[in-house]
Amino acid sequence: MSFRTIEMRDNKVIMIDQTRLPGEEIYNEYNDFKGVAEAIRGMVIRGAPAIGVAAAMGIALGAGEIITDTEKSFFRQLSNVCDVMAATRPTAVNLFWAIKRMKQVAEELRGSGLQKIREALKREAIRIEQEDVEICRAIGKNGARLIKDSWTILTHCNAGGLATAGYGTALGVIRAAHEAGKNIKVFADETRPWLQGARLTAWELMKAGIPVTLIADNMAGYFMSRGEIDCCIVGADRIAANGDTANKIGTYSVAVLAKENGVPFYVAAPLSTFDFSLQTGAEIPIEERHSTEITHLAGVHIAPEGVKVRNPAFDVTPARYITAIITEKGVVTGDYRSNLPSLAVR
Ligand code: MRU
Repeated sequence: MSFRTIEMRDNKVIMIDQTRLPGEEIYNEYNDFKGVAEAIRGMVIRGAPAIGVAAAMGIALGAGEIITDTEKSFFRQLSNVCDVMAATRPTAVNLFWAIKRMKQVAEELRGSGLQKIREALKREAIRIEQEDVEICRAIGKNGARLIKDSWTILTHCNAGGLATAGYGTALGVIRAAHEAGKNIKVFADETRPWLQGARLTAWELMKAGIPVTLIADNMAGYFMSRGEIDCCIVGADRIAANGDTANKIGTYSVAVLAKENGVPFYVAAPLSTFDFSLQTGAEIPIEERHSTEITHLAGVHIAPEGVKVRNPAFDVTPARYITAIITEKGVVTGDYRSNLPSLAVR
């Protein structure tokens, strides 16, 4: 990969600033957990797995910032650090998964001294980052088998290296198919309002030498109806026990259009994106973001002053529209409620 999404070095968290791409390739450095939390909230880093990695690294930084001699006070303050991280974005479950994992590491070392706990938290955050890259490669390998030579693949939002610790989930499948020598092409939805498709997916794929064509979101149906799309692959922010999948707003429309046009619709996600505590997608909390993301385009006001706005950042695609879910442990189809749990424990 010719860029690094996030890393932890010398008690600093370094991330590529995704709000400035593709115009500027700038790396921001954070040395306090509040800065990392603000970076997640402000979309400097985004994408479910990347948010999880950032939260873990933020907690490791936060643990280092705590000033106390007693473990009791350390754990109280660490819990506050975790709460700040948890309050950044509500939909991607990877955030809460990473926080839980970090808390467990600290709990297991209760009584071993603060230095040991701090070091273990740092190691765990780096481990989560490294594992994520391996997981994405495994997703890529599993998913690439579904992709035929000369296919054109539609993707929505950015589920690439920028949305993970590297390589990507949906784009991981695309990368793996490309690396396997398959002559594939990608159509990237621009993904209003944040333009992750136009700004990030197009940038990533062009850097990787994978042919990409950018389209506005409302063009997907046109190309599907003309037989120009062979399959759709998207990432996920949270998958309920029945397979219902929350992903970037607009994903649901793509899935419905895919079904109408007989185009396979695949979701690629790590097991850390599954939330088996939720029976259906109706229980997934959906983030609503600021109205200026809709009323403004690149800082320019495009709507009448004072207009009422709704801005959900995600929608839920019912499982019946999903042809298969691609994970690091394998590809799941059919009755997700029965077939997903076996995958998680394997
Ligand atoms: O608001 P974002 O940019 O964080 O939303 C990102 C998405 O919806 C991605 O498709 C999802 O997180 C999967 S990333 C591998």
